[in-house]
Amino acid sequence: MAKRERVLSGVQPTGQATLGNFLGAFRQWRIQQEEYDSTFLIVDQHALTVEHDPAALREGTLQMAALLFAVGIDPTRSTVVVQSHVAGHAQLAWLMECTATYGELSRMIQFKDKSRGSAMVRAGLFTYPALMAADILLYQTDLVPVGEDQSQHIELTRTVATRFNHAYGDIFTIPRAVIPPLAARVMDLSHPEAKMSKSSADGQGNIYLLDSDDQIRRKIAKAKTDLFNEVLYVEDDPSRAGVRNLLEILAVLTDREPKDVASNFERYGDLKEATATAVIEQLSPIRDRYWDYMSDRSQLVSWLSIGRERASEVASQTLSRAYEAIGFLPGKEVTHGD
Ligand code: TYM
Repeated sequence: MAKRERVLSGVQPTGQATLGNFLGAFRQWRIQQEEYDSTFLIVDQHALTVEHDPAALREGTLQMAALLFAVGIDPTRSTVVVQSHVAGHAQLAWLMECTATYGELSRMIQFKDKSRGSAMVRAGLFTYPALMAADILLYQTDLVPVGEDQSQHIELTRTVATRFNHAYGDIFTIPRAVIPPLAARVMDLSHPEAKMSKSSADGQGNIYLLDSDDQIRRKIAKAKTDLFNEVLYVEDDPSRAGVRNLLEILAVLTDREPKDVASNFERYGDLKEATATAVIEQLSPIRDRYWDYMSDRSQLVSWLSIGRERASEVASQTLSRAYEAIGFLPGKEVTHGD
């Protein structure tokens, strides 16, 4: 039997996960786990790149695990692992920092966005794409399902993996990004020119996966539209971004094309109502399962420890090969990874 291709992706455990995370990432993960050998990371080390609260990080990590299982990531089928539980991530990250260049890291859009206007920019915010490359390469990943905002990081991962392979030998699989055709960039409902983001200031334009049905209805009812007063799906027109966003959300959730969805509505109010209903139908069972999982923390911890064991096996093999290739003297008593 041919070896199954490997999927890997990750999410930061800070803030509440949004509908953007769900449509851009989690939903793909749930589908892809059926076919691929899948690993999903809760990237607690990435969370240190901006100011953070240790207690909230610890709790957020467990909550994110509960949420991933609630979304339908199956712990018997997929490996769900906390990044800091597998030492290989940090270890390989150093090799990636010494493979990527300063110029490459300086061009990362997320670094520019997140560091703008900030007096105390942590060095880790700058080097974090090297850690992300390590996350992916450590597992010999073929496919990386992500929202559009991560595509530049994956391009960089491909560049550094290729450079490493040329310099030191064929160690890493070169991964490919898998970006969903629709809803790869879910926009903020109140500011449809900006991406829906866990870290947005007031959160009014965000739908969180744990929002109540009422909150979801209210936020979608208030979503910014435009003055055209016609339900049309127009790509690449910033003045129609709000309606386009609603149409994409509804289209993905009902498995249709946005243009066909648009033809069913004449009024924005009706489109909003149908979108809210579809979102609630999708999210309310996830919310119920989330609270079930959170009521049994020892089960969550035990699934994460199974994930850690499975992940460590592949990770330590890759790390040993990379260490050897780059010229590290093998230490007799040292075992790399976990
Ligand atoms: P993070 O935690 O910001 O987001 C997790 C996933 O959600 C997607 N996403 C969106 N998709 C569509 N519309 C949106 N508005 C939206 N907001 C977020 C993101 O594209 C992402 O797929 N650096 C990564 C985490 C990471 C990772 C990795 C991903 C660390 N190591 C290795 C893949 C492979 C991040 O901060 O994602």
